[in-house]
Amino acid sequence: MKIGIGNDHVAVEYKNIIKEYLEEKGYEVVNFGTDSTERFDYPIAGEAVARAVVSGQVDKGILICGTGVGISLSANKVNGIRAVVCSEPYTARLSRQHNNTNILAFGARVVGIELAKMIVDEWLAAEYEGGRHQKRLDMIADIERRQKNQ
Ligand code: RB5
Repeated sequence: MKIGIGNDHVAVEYKNIIKEYLEEKGYEVVNFGTDSTERFDYPIAGEAVARAVVSGQVDKGILICGTGVGISLSANKVNGIRAVVCSEPYTARLSRQHNNTNILAFGARVVGIELAKMIVDEWLAAEYEGGRHQKRLDMIADIERRQKNQ
């Protein structure tokens, strides 16, 4: 599986640790984030990873900024993206099972690195359950379609 990773200047160290962690587990990781601690606007990385997911260049995305909020908001502006910001593994797992999230975000200033690894593991291991949940995801896609036609 190929994972796109993105981050702002606050999360360079977290990005590197998570990237290495995933590579050790056999994932291919494509870096769309900054490698510098100079100020970097999170929408750039959020959009880049989101577009890579939607185009199929990568299978899933992971985004990290200070809180995970700004970068997940940016990704969610791209049609077809369902990004979740998580600070614990339960939401990470349920967001895959019920919401078929295709991007996981978290905050480098919010979660410790070991908890972040647990969140990532839980999110990657969980499968979308489909069934009754699909109708709601179709409704979300409809919102995107109606927005485009406005
Ligand atoms: C950068 O200072 C900070 O605003 C950013 O990392 C993130 O937390 C935004 O949501």
